[in-house]
Amino acid sequence: MRVCVIGTGYVGLVTGACLAYIGHDVICVDNNEEKVKLMKSGQSPIHEPGLPEILTESIRQGKIEFTTDIATGVKHGEVLFIAVGTPSLADGRSDMRYVEAVARSIGESLTDGYRVIVNKSTVPIGSGDWVRMIVLDGMAGQSNDQIEFDVVSNPEFLREGVAVYDTFNPDRIVVGSDSDRALQLMQELYTPIIDRSFAENKTLAPVPVVVTDLNSAEMIKYAANAFLATKISFVNEIANICDRVGADVKEVARGIGLDSRIGSKFLQAGIGWGGSCFGKDVSALIYTAADYGYSTEILKACVRVNELQRILVVEKLQQALKILKGKTIGLLGMTFKPDTDDMRDAPALTLIDQLSRLGARVKAYDPLVSQSGLRQGFSNVIVETDLERLADGCDAVVLVTDWQEFLAIDYAKMLRLMHHPVIIDARNFLDGKALKALGYQYIGIGR
Ligand code: NAD
Ligand code: UDX
Repeated sequence: MRVCVIGTGYVGLVTGACLAYIGHDVICVDNNEEKVKLMKSGQSPIHEPGLPEILTESIRQGKIEFTTDIATGVKHGEVLFIAVGTPSLADGRSDMRYVEAVARSIGESLTDGYRVIVNKSTVPIGSGDWVRMIVLDGMAGQSNDQIEFDVVSNPEFLREGVAVYDTFNPDRIVVGSDSDRALQLMQELYTPIIDRSFAENKTLAPVPVVVTDLNSAEMIKYAANAFLATKISFVNEIANICDRVGADVKEVARGIGLDSRIGSKFLQAGIGWGGSCFGKDVSALIYTAADYGYSTEILKACVRVNELQRILVVEKLQQALKILKGKTIGLLGMTFKPDTDDMRDAPALTLIDQLSRLGARVKAYDPLVSQSGLRQGFSNVIVETDLERLADGCDAVVLVTDWQEFLAIDYAKMLRLMHHPVIIDARNFLDGKALKALGYQYIGIGR
């Protein structure tokens, strides 16, 4: 099938590359010329394991192209994916300006034939009908009897760091539409994924496809992220009680997670959730509910617990070191989770902000973040290029991101370089007993 993906970020590029890899003819559109230049040369502008290989192979097979010209993409695609960002506005609502601009350009670029316009971006409930209206607005002035289109909601559930795996091995595919014609095309598009031709385990039953109305599909995306974020906030609250009563939250999570009604995933207590999705999506849902006169008590508590969880790490440092002014704190990891270069809403940013406000000197090391990679204005952290320089003279080290390579650090050597032997394991990731045996003051979360 002929596919156009508009917006080549973490979702759009992975979607475009994976659809090309399974045999579709894909044109990816982005208005960022630098990105398009990079992708044309076969390079990925984001760090995502497995993506460079898929991209290279799809380019070699002539299955994927890149352009800044949306009209070229719209002319080409029978299915047009909108995959641009929907970040939070200052008040927590979704900023829909990128989706609006793309929907309008699609309308202006449609010339003939039938198109399925797919909302892949996470958009507030009701956006499907709104996109239809904007596309029609864009078409205004054209003789448009030759043009037909349907709008479909097809929310994305991939996780950064394992996005390619998630695309080929989804738990489900959600499609919201009231058009049989559109649903049939979507079914055809995803057949190689549904029938597990590209799955790690090809013997599994086909991927469930949830066919529903537009509004329910949009709501499924928000409800899924809100549930996952709430599950983490819940276990973090349990961790904070564990800290007080002397229980170990890792044992508690294991014990409750074995109950199949609860499940073991997303029960890792720590510094709390971050990233580009959970915060913005939970807050967008809170505002949607408020628009309809409903006050979401659980969701507000979920956000509040997460805010406090980040501050808790600062409090643990204060308990260990007393005065933070003039102390040097080293952060192990900065990205919001491992295997990604994404710093959006990373807990490390809150730590840097709070610690520097309290007069501490903050150093950090991350396998994928350099000083120049930090967002502008973030000058109150020194990004070190190796672990020895990070440890040198530190009064405490905080493990912020659970990068696998941090398990292999020579902690004895690190201890010798540090000024004080304090380590806060903000992901409960390290072997606390072994670190204590080396002479560290090891402090976890809820253990
Ligand atoms: P992103 O910021 O990484 O990428 C968006 C891309 O769109 C950028 O490359 C930008 O240049 C491009 N763009 C913006 N306006 C454009 C225009 N007018 N024409 C062409 N290109 C344009 O965003 P993302 O993280 O990939 O998220 C995209 C959407 O998917 C969001 O709604 C997000 O909530 C949702 N989502 C994200 C994830 C995730 O893990 N990142 C997972 C599921 C859903
Ligand atoms: C999330 C959703 O999982 C995904 O379905 C959606 O499409 C996009 O948002 P992502 O943000 O990539 O994916 O990462 P995820 O693995 O969900 O982790 C989010 C945050 O929660 C990270 O900061 C992670 O460290 C934290 N987390 C996760 C915990 O603190 N504890 C856990 O048990 C799991």
